[in-house]
Amino acid sequence: MRATLKSTTDLATFACDTLVIPVYEDLKLNSDSRAIDKASQKQLAKILASDDFNGHSGETVTLRGIAGTAANRIVLWGLGDKDKLSRQALVKACDSLAKAVTGLPGKHCAVLGSLKTIKAVPTSWALQQIAARIARTTYLYTTTKPSKKNPVTLARLSIVNADSTAANRQAITQGVAIGQGINIARELGNLPGNICTPKYLSSQARKLARQHTAIKTTVLGEKQMQALSMDSLLSVGHGSVEESQLMVINYQGGKKSQKPHVLVGKGITFDSGGISLKPGARMDEMKFDMCGAASVIGTLSAIAEMKLPLNVIGVIPAAENMPSSRATKPGDVVTSMSGKTIEVLNTDAEGRLVLCDALTYVERFKPESVVDIATLTGACIMALGHHASGLLSNDDDLANSLLAAGTDSADRAWQLPLWDVYKKQLSSPFADLGNIAAGGAGTITAACFLSEFTEKYRWAHLDIAGTAWGQAGGKGASGRPVGLLCQYLISLAGKAAV
Ligand code: BES
Ligand code: MN
Ligand code: ZN
Repeated sequence: MRATLKSTTDLATFACDTLVIPVYEDLKLNSDSRAIDKASQKQLAKILASDDFNGHSGETVTLRGIAGTAANRIVLWGLGDKDKLSRQALVKACDSLAKAVTGLPGKHCAVLGSLKTIKAVPTSWALQQIAARIARTTYLYTTTKPSKKNPVTLARLSIVNADSTAANRQAITQGVAIGQGINIARELGNLPGNICTPKYLSSQARKLARQHTAIKTTVLGEKQMQALSMDSLLSVGHGSVEESQLMVINYQGGKKSQKPHVLVGKGITFDSGGISLKPGARMDEMKFDMCGAASVIGTLSAIAEMKLPLNVIGVIPAAENMPSSRATKPGDVVTSMSGKTIEVLNTDAEGRLVLCDALTYVERFKPESVVDIATLTGACIMALGHHASGLLSNDDDLANSLLAAGTDSADRAWQLPLWDVYKKQLSSPFADLGNIAAGGAGTITAACFLSEFTEKYRWAHLDIAGTAWGQAGGKGASGRPVGLLCQYLISLAGKAAV
């Protein structure tokens, strides 16, 4: 989908398939929508006066055959009470709009952009979200179900009569890039484990480098990881015939001298639990255990599209966690790349085992910051449900900028403590660390484990076990937290849509 700013002196004659008119609960038309009302001999006013449309947040009504207009149909889009407009509410309203318009026939959808927003929800941000959420909704999973054709024909979005500022123009392009990045993450998440293997993920990492000149990708196989003493990472894939991979996706949008921001994504392409086998019910969902990796690939694609003036390195440790006679057993002790030994008490706590070596590996980049993204603990779903990602960090400034990015993108995270008292729960009589902890607080102790490997830089951990898939009862991958990560990087680049 392409999106552009357009201007017209007479909205009624603006040619498009679908024309969206946003209306607050006060049901007042602005000068642009009044032009349509006039051309249609007050048909809009009549509908606004009726009970068919009340302007509630997210409400839509599709009107066909409106006289005197060039559009094939008009969609009235409710935004609720203007004074109570919030970013969260606007994103929800954008999702309803996206649902209403992406299924309609025709290629070209235009949204009237001249309605004024309030300070808490700046216009450029609103335009970014309209573009992002509509772009996101054009995706449907069909790869292994070709009989299900994606009915979406929408290919062009125009924002009409918004102020023609650089910020607004940029917001729209960024919105489309974010929506597409989200969809890249959703598709990778939705692909089954027999297609989306560690090698498949590295083919996708390499594809990014072919698509964007600013991206260079390198992939390490098991031999190269052995040479680096990544025995913790390698121990996870031992039981699988699929070769483990470590991808390094290097986006250079800034000056060479600028320190990079690093994103590390957990890429377990299927998590059976290994010898500590998971129960059968819903085990299929463990194909989503690479959604952290998918969010890194989606985010890098988006920031390369946006050409953000930053250096960002995506690192993905990928493996398949399977039981076999070669698999790691409970009680096995492995030596991580850092030199710290780990007693593998439960082979189902494998995410931290791949992440710890990746986190040691990234020290070589002398990073400005490191954020890891992982479907790490079922306990995170207990703590926060499916609404917020868990956030833990060794740096309050970094934590606060991620929390703010989450709020701003309506892709929220919530911070949990990373106190020393929890770290003690990881002690083992046979190694420097056990890979599971006694005494509860599973999300915190998992992050405590990771924190043992992140002492050399500012680091934050996002536990996306509850947010990466199954949102609102849906079955598929959500693409979270690509929205949060893009917003975070956009703010760092000083290019925020405000
Ligand atoms: N990938 C899972 C975490 C998970 C479980 C995410 C369910 C989403 C839904 C992770 O590898 C895992 O198995 N964690 C264990 C850790 C435990 C053994 C300490 C868990 O959460 O049960
Ligand atoms: Mn597991
Ligand atoms: Zn896992």
